[in-house]
Amino acid sequence: MKQSIMGDNKPTLFSPYKMGNLNLSHRVVLAPMTRCRAVNSIPNEALVEYYRQRTTAGGFLITEGTMISPTAAGFPHVPGIFTREQIEGWKKVVDAVHKQGGLIFCQLWHVGRASHQVYQPDGDAPISSTNKPISNKWKILMPDAKYGRYPEPRPLATHEIPQVVEDYRLAAINAIEAGFDGIEIHGAHGYLLDQFMKDGINDRTDEYGGSLDNRCKFLLQVVRAIAAAIGADRVGVRISPAIDHLDAMDSDPRSLGLAVIERLNKLQFELGSKLSYLHVTQPRYTAYGQTEAGSHGSEEEIAQLMRSWRGAYVGTFICSGGYTRELGLEAVAQGDADLVAYGRQFISNPDLVLRLKLNAPLNRYVRATFYTHHPVVGYTDYPFLHKGNSRL
Ligand SMILES: Cc1cc2nc3c(=O)[nH]c(=O)nc-3n(C[C@H](O)[C@H](O)[C@H](O)COP(=O)(O)O)c2cc1C
Repeated sequence: MKQSIMGDNKPTLFSPYKMGNLNLSHRVVLAPMTRCRAVNSIPNEALVEYYRQRTTAGGFLITEGTMISPTAAGFPHVPGIFTREQIEGWKKVVDAVHKQGGLIFCQLWHVGRASHQVYQPDGDAPISSTNKPISNKWKILMPDAKYGRYPEPRPLATHEIPQVVEDYRLAAINAIEAGFDGIEIHGAHGYLLDQFMKDGINDRTDEYGGSLDNRCKFLLQVVRAIAAAIGADRVGVRISPAIDHLDAMDSDPRSLGLAVIERLNKLQFELGSKLSYLHVTQPRYTAYGQTEAGSHGSEEEIAQLMRSWRGAYVGTFICSGGYTRELGLEAVAQGDADLVAYGRQFISNPDLVLRLKLNAPLNRYVRATFYTHHPVVGYTDYPFLHKGNSRL
């Protein structure tokens, strides 16, 4: 039976929350979203303005996917965090967010096979767990704004994996140097780490393939290396066991999710410190921001799946994927999540937190400008409810 979403002592989306050492004033999170405005991979003034607009005092923001190394890109003009210029660019973003009392994590990203030779440093094949390309059902956004086919990737040799783990670790150290409050490891949505976790992709016969233990190994090595470098309490992890974006299918998403969680719990115990959070995208959200309800079971089955992961994880749980105001309130009130990350609604409503609080109407998002490169149009020109940018 559903409980009242405004029950007396139950938290709401607008209740404070303590996440490790971070004091959040509410539970509405900016979900990580690629927006392709970082010309030549360097965060610029457009990004400063975009994140500044979406900051609230005590609000928690996660950046767009940010390249950990030159081989990590699969979209045009996504930012990186592996060069001096990129770090300096991010400093300006972080400063703007901090100045307004916000907290911000950098999402560390390697797309793996979801790339193309044009995005690779020497025109090489993109790397992955496999040599199977992403099927033609999916298209890659090319630098000329046309859509192309994903090429055949090159499976990483076993001995190459520690170097990629090291790239993640260095990127995390750079993020802390840029002033970020922490980092989120992108282990979701069919990108590199998910390409190792999902048995629909990973066909390896080495120590990174086969059993759940082996398939989770790469992610766990990354988590462990970063936690050792910057502290577990500054590390968030994002996974999407039940999402088949970019052909990332698994024969048993429930067990995969539980396997990752069990290992994260064990690591937390071993380290004597919790990670910052676990962030799970639920299958209400699918490719390219489209909603395709029902493809992974009924709403109730999906809710049960999310609850089984939420129940198993020891620590802060963020949910994301198709949350409306009502669903977000309900998730927090029922204890199904501690925090709720909003994506598309935050693109078109820079003052989303205020709007949700007031139950005010929302601007509609324009999908056509999600991945375009204009520094303002479709990026920082969505109107605020109140003129003068008034915030909470
Ligand atoms: C334009 C766009 C870009 C996105 N880029 C990323 C990304 O870089 N990293 C990531 O983990 N998720 C990404 N996502 C997924 C969002 O974080 C979020 O999970 C998804 O939009 C579902 O939430 P929503 O229904 O509130 O939009 C993206 C979504 C959209 C619409």
